[in-house]
Amino acid sequence: MSRRILIAGNWKMNKTSAEGAALVKEIAAGLPAGNLPEILVCPPYLTIPAVVEAAKGSALEVGAENVHWAASGAYTGEVSTAMLLDAGVTHVIVGHSERRQYFGETDETVNQRAKAAVEAGLVAVICVGETLAEREAGETAAVIDRQTRKALEGISDLAKVVIAYEPVWAIGTGKTATPDMAQEVHAQIRAILADLYGADAAETVRILYGGSMKPANAPELLAKKDIDGGLIGGASLKAPDFLALVAAGANA
Ligand code: 13P
Repeated sequence: MSRRILIAGNWKMNKTSAEGAALVKEIAAGLPAGNLPEILVCPPYLTIPAVVEAAKGSALEVGAENVHWAASGAYTGEVSTAMLLDAGVTHVIVGHSERRQYFGETDETVNQRAKAAVEAGLVAVICVGETLAEREAGETAAVIDRQTRKALEGISDLAKVVIAYEPVWAIGTGKTATPDMAQEVHAQIRAILADLYGADAAETVRILYGGSMKPANAPELLAKKDIDGGLIGGASLKAPDFLALVAAGANA
């Protein structure tokens, strides 16, 4: 089974509308001819319209960084799936470790967000990953198992699901999981998917690696059997770096 590589940028809380639009134009203009991986950028909510406009006519898709599960209502500060679809969004990140660490996101709320996204027809990019303390305590497999199974509860079809393995200790730290370390967890995630949905369905799901992925380490990560792309923070904010990651995806 060959899965199409997905190179996804998580811009986090960076770039104004003008800056985001300029970055997208620069990326689009620099894309190589020929086979491309799937390419996604996820800007902050407020800049989504400008980024969608800038991405028009290019190979770039636009995602959001979070979404609420309710259709509408008294949820100050939240955004619904309908609002994202209306803005031209196709994907949404849920359960990013920064949401879990700083904003009280739990396995339960990650599940509700993921379910709502998939039901609305958005691709949910579900993030899982262990902290340094959990890794050092030998709890990585248990954490991944719990987060992955809970996030998928009530989701019957994997067609709109992407999983991102992001070891928390590798995010923004310059420390990358070695390709073997990452592959071991990716294989575990695929085994969980096979257990829940069957081996054939599990083979179709992209599992991305995230955590200090950059042009220098991307080729060896993407060469691993179960690493199907990247969810990239810092290196997605500069067009030359992101384009190099796209090229790594094209060659993987
Ligand atoms: P960095 O690539 O900056 O480590 O961030 C990874 C990440 O959190 C992507 O969601």
